[in-house]
Amino acid sequence: MPTSSVRAPIVSELIAATQGEHAYPVRVGGAPDDALAGFAGEHDRVALVSCAKVLRTAHGRAVKAGLARTGALAVVHVLPDGERGKTLRELERAATALLRAGLTRRSLVVGLGGGAVTDAAGFLAATYMRGVPWVAVPTTLLGMVDAAIGGKTAVNLPLAKNAVGAFHPPEAVLADPIALETLPARELASGKGEVMKYGALQPPLLATFAERCRAGIPEPSVIAACARMKVDVVEADPREKGPRKLLNLGHTFGHGVEAAGRFSRYTHGEAVAIGLAFAFRLARRLGRVGDGPVSAVEAALEGAGLPTRVPAPIARAAVKLMAFDKKRGDAGLLWVLPVAVGEGWTVEWDVAADEAAVEATVAEIAAGPARAVVPATKGARAKRKARR
Ligand SMILES: NC(=O)c1ccc[n+]([C@@H]2O[C@H](COP(=O)([O-])OP(=O)(O)OC[C@H]3O[C@@H](n4cnc5c(N)ncnc54)[C@H](O)[C@@H]3O)[C@@H](O)[C@H]2O)c1
Ligand SMILES: [Zn+2]
Repeated sequence: MPTSSVRAPIVSELIAATQGEHAYPVRVGGAPDDALAGFAGEHDRVALVSCAKVLRTAHGRAVKAGLARTGALAVVHVLPDGERGKTLRELERAATALLRAGLTRRSLVVGLGGGAVTDAAGFLAATYMRGVPWVAVPTTLLGMVDAAIGGKTAVNLPLAKNAVGAFHPPEAVLADPIALETLPARELASGKGEVMKYGALQPPLLATFAERCRAGIPEPSVIAACARMKVDVVEADPREKGPRKLLNLGHTFGHGVEAAGRFSRYTHGEAVAIGLAFAFRLARRLGRVGDGPVSAVEAALEGAGLPTRVPAPIARAAVKLMAFDKKRGDAGLLWVLPVAVGEGWTVEWDVAADEAAVEATVAEIAAGPARAVVPATKGARAKRKARR
């Protein structure tokens, strides 16, 4: 069984990422303006692709104004918010806007927004004139620690999320945590679900991450440490054949929960939090870890305001939906699970689990003391539905 070999991260603000032949910096901290001006100077025209909400924020306005000052900004293309911007129809609209603005193969796309915008802008850059360079400016915590790094770009089809996409790494990822000041609390917590996943992959860091995610925006050092882990894993496995599967820790059951909640009841990070609790409890059922790791992970999640339980109907539906997961191999569903090493644990991928253990864990995860997720308000529910 393959095991984790993620190197311990050294917290720094500038991370050198390489994917095959392609090298690019991932910067955490500092306004992106100067770096963007530098990139703009190397291209004939620039298209800024974003969404209205982000363009209204102080960070969004500053990025747009900075690009305008370079004289290279030819078009600001505004995508519909969230998942509604990740469609083939929107790709066509965006590519048409770029053509009308005179963008050529020597032009640059800048994607400014959450994971939905950087996925869509990256895919636009991957396909416009058979590929132009792009820079990612993530504005959500999830984007800074995950979505904007690694070069996976995509749009959705009505039948499946991220069904049409390409590997197209950016020229740079410029993450300024100041952007997070305007992020709604629930979206911030969602990003913390991914931060805790990185902590669960590097047990010595879990307590620090938990401490620094308790209230408000995590320190830039935490964001940089997570970004570095993603960079390291992607570098080790650019095409997701082996070690990159580690990043799916908590995502097997998590994706089931997301689908069972019809992609509106739980944010991605909330579903991942429940999936992490599930993975550690399943590992305990299988005799791979004791009580310590389960308590450590659940305490970290709950401290960050994330759920670790789901109502029984959701848990049962999640298991059924998991059966359709794309990570299913010939040997059945394969898990990413911890295994004890001394006082701590490491994480392995491609682990089989018998159905009885999974069923018993479903009963556990649906049981009290339930710290159920705060039900979404009517407005938030409608909005999430629209983002599907
Ligand atoms: N490519 C990858 O490797 C990868 C990895 C993980 C997730 N993703 C994708 O990322 C997407 C989810 O990304 P997300 O969680 O960032 O959500 P999101 O992009 O939908 O953004 C969430 C909400 O926050 C708003 N927002 C963004 N930044 C803001 C800011 N600074 N201030 C105020 N509001 C702001 C957005 O307008 C949106 O309403 C999904 O489509 C998922 O498939 C991709
Ligand atoms: Zn995730």
